[in-house]
This record gives sequence, C-alpha cells and structure tokens, in this order.
Amino acid sequence: MEETITKESKWKNEEEEEAKIQIYKYVFGFAEAAVIKCAIELKIANVIESHGRPTMTLSQLSTALNCSPPHLFRIMRFLTHRGIFREETTPENLIAYSQTPLSHMLINVAPLLLLENSPEIVASWHNLSAKLKNSYNNNENSDLVVPFEVAHGKDIWSYGARNPGFNRMFNEGLGCNARVITLPAILENCGDIFNGVESLVDVGGGNGTTLSVLVKAFPWMKGINFDLPNVVSTSEKYDGVEHVGGNMLDFVPKADAAFFMLKSLDQLVIEIVYITASGLLDADTLKSVK
Ligand SMILES: C[S@@+](CC[C@H](N)C(=O)[O-])C[C@H]1O[C@@H](n2cnc3c(N)ncnc32)[C@H](O)[C@@H]1O
Repeated sequence: MEETITKESKWKNEEEEEAKIQIYKYVFGFAEAAVIKCAIELKIANVIESHGRPTMTLSQLSTALNCSPPHLFRIMRFLTHRGIFREETTPENLIAYSQTPLSHMLINVAPLLLLENSPEIVASWHNLSAKLKNSYNNNENSDLVVPFEVAHGKDIWSYGARNPGFNRMFNEGLGCNARVITLPAILENCGDIFNGVESLVDVGGGNGTTLSVLVKAFPWMKGINFDLPNVVSTSEKYDGVEHVGGNMLDFVPKADAAFFMLKSLDQLVIEIVYITASGLLDADTLKSVK
C-alpha cells in the first residue's frame, strides 16, 4: 500500500515537472511564427539558394544580409533545430548552412506565411473566445460573431478595400495557396471536370492566380476572373484571363461554367467546385457561398 502511494506520488511529480517544461511551449508559442517571419523578411532562404554553392558560411550570410553574426547565429540555430536549413562545419572549421526541403518551401509559400502571420489576421485569432462565448445551445447569434470583425470593426472585404497594403497581401497570400497547394491537388485528382468547358468564370477568384494556372493547363479554355472591384483593379494581367469587377450578389458574368473556391477560418479548409451546365447560377448556390 505504502509502495503504491510512493509510486503514484513519483509519477505525479514527474508529470508536474514535465508540465512545467511543456507550459513554456505555450508561453512562447508565438516565437516560432515570429522567427519564421523574420527569416522570410530577411530572405535568408533566397540568399542561400542564389549563392551558387550548396553551403554558405555564417560570415558570408551575415555579410549578404547585413546582420550581426551572433544575432544571425541564434536565429539560424532556432531554425536548424526545426529542420529549416541544415548546419554544417566546413573543412576550415567554419559554421555553414545549406537548404533543406522545408527551407526551400519557405521561398514558395512566403506570401501565404506572411498573410497568416500578419498583425491583422493574428488579431482575429486573439478574438477566438468571442466566437465561442454564448455559443452553447446553438445560439444563432454566436454564428454572427466573426473574430476578424471583432478585431477590426469591419468585415475583411471592407477592410481590404480601405487598406491597399492588406488587400495586396491577402490576394497574394491566397494566390500562393492556390498555386502551391490547392491547384496541384485539383489538377492531379479531378482535372477532368474541366473537359469540354470553353469558358470558366472564377467567382471570388481573387487576383486571378487560379485561372492563370487553369487556362495554362487547359489552353482551349477562356477565363473570367470575377471579384470585388478593388481586388481586380490591382491584379496582374494574364494571357487568356479577363478580369471583371463586381458584387456576386448583384450579378455573375456569363460563362459555360462557374468555379468557386472558398476557405473559412473556422473550418480549416472548405473548397467548393461548382460547375453548372448552363452557366446560370441559382440564388441558392450564391447563398451557400456568400
Ligand atoms: C476566401 S477568398 C477566396 C479567393 C480564391 N477563390 C482562393 O480560393 O484563393 C474569397 C474571395 O471572394 C471575394 N469576394 C468576397 N465577397 C465578394 C462579393 N460580394 N462579390 C465578389 N467577390 C467577393 C474576395 O475579394 C476574395 O477574393
């Protein structure tokens, strides 16, 4: 009996000691995203990639980035422990770094990482509890609470219309997500849904990245990128893609088929691909993607 109590209290002590270590992960949980953002802003991966040799010494990297070696070393130590860059020692006994698949990916997904870790989007997450409060018993009003709106006092589209910097970062971030992650999966798994479609309107198509990729993959297809006027007016031009500005609740340009790709903050990823045979969109469809 006494032995059991001693064992239990030993486990309890071990768990408590472990908890003291684990809790620090949460106290400084923000640091991981902050250091990765720092690496992107300094363009560390781009500089190592374009160096022309597989490794770059700490001293070369410090000079190229105009950063103090001891400060940069600490950032690199944090990153290399997570598999972002590899640390090596040169035959001359110097510290050097090379790319890993993860650090290489930083280059491709930089716009998405910068968007999701921007002060505006992080502020939404800081208001997550507002969404949950009073949501017991399926309280309908709690569905109306949008963390972004609690943080910024307006919906994300109105905020984007008034803040050109955020508008550009948002559209580039989602364009990057479409190009690097979503579209390769769509093309690999269900590209045949576009067979026979000669004109496609992407409703809420952002800066047109999605259509620019689709018209390249299906060169017979003409793309109409439909989004809010402030979004399409600042979008890059692409061959085979016409930008049209407007409100989808007022009208949707005519085409053989319509394509919706939407994501929501509170359900990690939602993608809806909706193809109409006639090009006509009924009110229920529009309500469901509103
Ligand atoms: C979540 S984003 C999706 C962007 C893109 N389809 C993607 O998946 O990367 C939703 C898009 O819908 C656009 N949008 C929001 N309300 C709209 C409206 N009433 N009419 C047209 N576009 C709208 C936004 O500007 C934004 O580009």
